[in-house]
Amino acid sequence: MFVRRIAVIGAGYVGLTTGACLASLGHRVVCADVDAAKIARLRDGDVDILEPGLPELVAEGMAAGRLSFVLGAREAIAPVGAVEEPVEVVFLCVPTPMGEGGAADLAAVEAVAHEVRDLLPRGCVVVNKSTVPVGTAARTRQLLGRRDVAVVSNPEFLREGSAVHDFLNPDRIVVGCDQQDAAERVAALYSRLGAPTLLTDAASSELVKYAANCFLAMKLSYVNAMAELCERLGADVGEVTEGMGYDRRIGQAFLKPGPGWGGSCLPKDTHALMQISDAAGFEFPLLDASLQTNQRQSGRMVAKVRAAVGGSLAGKRIGLLGLTFKAGTDDLRDSPALAVAAGLRAEGAELTGFDPGCPAPVAGLTDGVAVADDVMAAAKDADAIVVLTEWPEFRALDWPALARVAANRTVVDTRNLLDPDVLRRAGFSWVGVGSR
Ligand code: UDX
Ligand code: UDX
Repeated sequence: MFVRRIAVIGAGYVGLTTGACLASLGHRVVCADVDAAKIARLRDGDVDILEPGLPELVAEGMAAGRLSFVLGAREAIAPVGAVEEPVEVVFLCVPTPMGEGGAADLAAVEAVAHEVRDLLPRGCVVVNKSTVPVGTAARTRQLLGRRDVAVVSNPEFLREGSAVHDFLNPDRIVVGCDQQDAAERVAALYSRLGAPTLLTDAASSELVKYAANCFLAMKLSYVNAMAELCERLGADVGEVTEGMGYDRRIGQAFLKPGPGWGGSCLPKDTHALMQISDAAGFEFPLLDASLQTNQRQSGRMVAKVRAAVGGSLAGKRIGLLGLTFKAGTDDLRDSPALAVAAGLRAEGAELTGFDPGCPAPVAGLTDGVAVADDVMAAAKDADAIVVLTEWPEFRALDWPALARVAANRTVVDTRNLLDPDVLRRAGFSWVGVGSR
């Protein structure tokens, strides 16, 4: 297994996970970021994102001298007074947020390409790890203007909250490049993982990421629509999805209904693929319908809470259990829980929320929600308790104690997370999604 000198540009969820995991595979990695405070924290071994196993890998890599942090891309690629052998692979892990009309905003990728193009050693490989529109590798190659530097697409398939696990236990490695040797050099970085590897062209590799994420989003919208149909037919979505999931072509994963899907990826990637399709003159009603179905879920959840408190939310106190977009993360970006909170607040509800991944208010995201330190504070005097994020600890709560502090013993469980019998024994009424 070759040990490579690797630079990772961008030390966020994707970049830090990529750098620390590549170091754990034996490579020599320098992670760069423009955020000086972040670099200082990382040099102190302080990992400020909630990713199980990541702090340990960062500490291990630093202690072994295989992982270091520098300010700015230039310092990672051409360190001042460098005595080391030149960097061989440069991963771009900078943000590709949703821009105008849903298109991915490539400003950061372009800025870094401009910054490093004259510094890249001959023969090195630039890898687009970020989720980027089809054609970005070709565009990056143009921006770099270096015939002696290959550009490779190597999309990440990391789920937040399990990013380290997903990186080290990938279902597959996808590498896209028109230059076979460059693609093989990138694939070789992961050889110790023994994962199925697809070597393809750059455009196909870039599209795989969107195609996979949008398929997952479609599967979730299908389940959420099925939950609504179950409510009208008196069927139980949990039983229906279990019955579906035994079919290996469907599988049990990603069949849990909820308040809609969110996070920093699925919404961004679905809108980006819509924009990519529009630009290619392709109408994609299937994907559009998945977006429409997702957008109606928060309104559906607000209607359930409104009914649970007697038909009007004005002045009602609502305790929210969960604010993050999913359990196991601290990420509030595009959280369906916050979309439901905004809907409840718009009808005059007073909100108190608790989330293990959100210990304090986050300006611009949790505005209008009193962020509580624990569940009891969220449930106190509540006219209804609403479960919005599927944290496992919410299944093991002391419901008799919560019944003593709540004003009204009503729970709206938008994740079908809880056991209705346990709640009913504690005197609560339980309302789920897609269930009798
Ligand atoms: C992001 C997107 O969320 C993901 O979908 C995409 O695949 C890759 O980019 P993420 O790591 O989550 O991934 O972004 P974020 O956590 O915001 O980290 C990006 C880091 O890049 C930040 O630390 C930022 O300071 C840094 N950055 C940004 C640079 O170092 N240089 C830049 O020019 C811009
Ligand atoms: C997703 C993809 O899973 C990952 O492969 C890709 O690399 C990045 O985007 P992530 O954004 O971390 O990962 O979240 P994910 O675990 O996919 O969940 C997305 C949303 O779907 C969350 O809001 C989650 O709560 C919701 N979800 C997921 C459900 O409502 N039901 C499910 O059964 C699974």
